[in-house]
Amino acid sequence: MNSTDVVEAQTLTSQQVVDLTRQHNYGTWRFQKNWNPMHIVDAEGCYIIDGAGKRYLDFSSQLMCSNLGHKNQAVIDAIARQAQQLSYAMPGYATTARAELSQLLAAILPKRLSKFFFTTSGTEANEAAFKIARMYTGKSKIIARYRSYHGSTAGSIAATGDPRRWAMEPGGKGPGILFAPEVHCYKCPIRHTYPGCGIACADYIEHMIRNESDVAAVLVEPIVGTNGVIVPPDEYMPKLRRICDQYGVLLIADEVMTGWGRTGAWFAMDHWGVTPDILVTAKGITSAYVPLGLCATSEKIAEFFQDHYFAHGHTYEAHPLTLAPAVATIHEMQRLGLVERARELAPYVEGKLDDLKARHPSIGDVRGKGLFWAVDLVKNRDSKEPFNTYEDKVSGKPLLVDQIAAKILGEGVTIQAWVSHFVIAPPLIVTREEIDRGIAALDKHLAMADAAVEQ
Ligand SMILES: Cc1ncc(COP(=O)(O)O)c(C=O)c1O
Repeated sequence: MNSTDVVEAQTLTSQQVVDLTRQHNYGTWRFQKNWNPMHIVDAEGCYIIDGAGKRYLDFSSQLMCSNLGHKNQAVIDAIARQAQQLSYAMPGYATTARAELSQLLAAILPKRLSKFFFTTSGTEANEAAFKIARMYTGKSKIIARYRSYHGSTAGSIAATGDPRRWAMEPGGKGPGILFAPEVHCYKCPIRHTYPGCGIACADYIEHMIRNESDVAAVLVEPIVGTNGVIVPPDEYMPKLRRICDQYGVLLIADEVMTGWGRTGAWFAMDHWGVTPDILVTAKGITSAYVPLGLCATSEKIAEFFQDHYFAHGHTYEAHPLTLAPAVATIHEMQRLGLVERARELAPYVEGKLDDLKARHPSIGDVRGKGLFWAVDLVKNRDSKEPFNTYEDKVSGKPLLVDQIAAKILGEGVTIQAWVSHFVIAPPLIVTREEIDRGIAALDKHLAMADAAVEQ
């Protein structure tokens, strides 16, 4: 690059930014043709702003991660301070940011999770969890569930039940990963009906553990995220905990999306008072201001590694620039009372979504907790058949939910669409007026789905 290139780079038009991005970058989880990314130049509070100056309400917190909202000054200051003082120290050193964050985490996480490994993504935090579980138990198999996402690298995509794994087949499942049916009372994969099923999907996992030898861990998203904000009945998690304890199997909770107040508790597992052996998180830990993931383990696992080799690490583990903003994020969440706020706003969102369901025949189900909700679209409320399938998603077929999301974008609202549902997860600082506005945009364009409902 010469100096002329630099000057040109500073004067790029929005169209040039988009064209260069398309030309030189991969759009993730999609066919590359027709990728037309929006040029984002600024963001503030619950809004993002494009190159033409148009403001969009961020109704899914980007990828369900900007929990504090954009441009929080305390977090920005923490990043700047840390950059000035100590931008990097290798993981073998102790740093003040590391100590401060560890102290805070030990106080906030479910009890007995007090030994931490830091990463720079949720994906890597899951990879750490799998290795730790295998080293600790001396066993190799991990039971995950079909409707799940755990990350994109070799191990974590292998443990992902959703179709993002399919491109890696055959063999992508990798050794030692087994899939169980998910808990999903609206569309039970083993055709039971709650209540009255005795939580048969948890019994299924017990059956798997008994018939497989060598099971190290059961891996769950406590509330399934991208795949539909699936909230388990209250009995599920305590029952899974009992089963894991009975067979000496570790319980890993992947709280990458559900952590950090999103569901109206610091962590989703708190809703059921269940402590996993390993808790994995990322996203909201810094409100996505910088990339940070966390693999938190129990005291008994920590104790094991006193006399066993901890065979894991990264150059960027416990990178000070990632840890200082996490400290600031936690303090800001506490100062603004955002966990309580998510809990308090839940009935308001639920009421609005129930009203939407009553008026739109294309809505099969609305479900969620805190500020984490799904609007699930179906062609037919009796058969619960979705408008599009996983096969449609990976074959590049246009999806109805994406077409509706594009219309909603035109109204100045961004919303995450996935296969046949929308995920509503605004920043936790959202106001009731902003909730009204986002839901009104959805309301207006659901007519497209209603028109496609089977009579
Ligand atoms: C539940 C869950 N686990 C893991 C991941 C992977 O995290 P990351 O994208 O930070 O690697 C995600 C990302 O969406 C997720 O939702």
